Amino acid sequence: MRLNKKTPFGQFYEEYLYHEDYLQLSKRRSLGIEPEMEAAKATINILKKSKIKINSILDVGCQTGHYLYSFRKSYKQNLYYTGVDGFSNHINAAKKIWKGDKNSQFVKSWAQKIKLKKKSDVSICINVFTHLPEINKSLKELNRLTNKICIIRTPIHNISYRIQQVYNKKWYRHSSVDPKFEFNLNGEPKSYNLFNVYSKEFFKYCIKKNFGNCKVNFIKDTFFNQKKINKKTKKYLGTKVMNGLQVTDLMIVPNYFVVIIK
Ligand SMILES: C[S@@+](CC[C@H](N)C(=O)[O-])C[C@H]1O[C@@H](n2cnc3c(N)ncnc32)[C@H](O)[C@@H]1O
Repeated sequence: MRLNKKTPFGQFYEEYLYHEDYLQLSKRRSLGIEPEMEAAKATINILKKSKIKINSILDVGCQTGHYLYSFRKSYKQNLYYTGVDGFSNHINAAKKIWKGDKNSQFVKSWAQKIKLKKKSDVSICINVFTHLPEINKSLKELNRLTNKICIIRTPIHNISYRIQQVYNKKWYRHSSVDPKFEFNLNGEPKSYNLFNVYSKEFFKYCIKKNFGNCKVNFIKDTFFNQKKINKKTKKYLGTKVMNGLQVTDLMIVPNYFVVIIK
């Protein structure tokens, strides 16, 4: 295990192990055993409403390709799908699940430096930006690989917040950190997962900087069913809805779909 180690772009590997716990859920979703994500359905609705004709999709932070399941279900047309994820456990599982689907490929690559050359008509990057230490590299890559429309889902507010969820072995079984020593002598956590909320002003500025001339639309995510989500969320760290707000443990996550049209 590569505990307390960072990826080349500054995320801790525990985040990867944390997502390992969700690997089975993503697999079941990709196989249609578990219901589709509300965010997947909302992404597809936004795309369909845009009336932009598409033939290919790039999904950055794809896990095991459960959004591909949703695309295959709601589009008659056999869109070409490329899934990218930085962590090999997700990509390897995705390759096994989708090996019979000739119109898809899965590539292990970091969102900050994607090993692809060919653009897709649409790119999606859902629930990834909040965990990234820096967003410009990934926006630059998304612009480079998008032909027509890019959809990002991430928490946006009028003030930015940089939240570190600190790992220790008492609550997180993959951590080796003793809770008594979870901060070092400089007051820095030994290992954490970021939950960033970006101000709309900053996020829009970064989009314009990387995408140049484009149309940007921020759509508040209200496309969820409070009862359904709360019934499903048994784990305290899963997302719940309280007074219409999405909440993860102590954190309010004001998710938006950021739609960029080139
Ligand atoms: C919270 S999950 C979201 C998965 C899916 N997009 C969804 O909305 O259900 C974040 C995904 O992004 C991947 N990921 C996190 N940081 C990444 C990075 N820097 N580059 C590529 N993939 C990353 C994780 O492995 C994980 O599959």
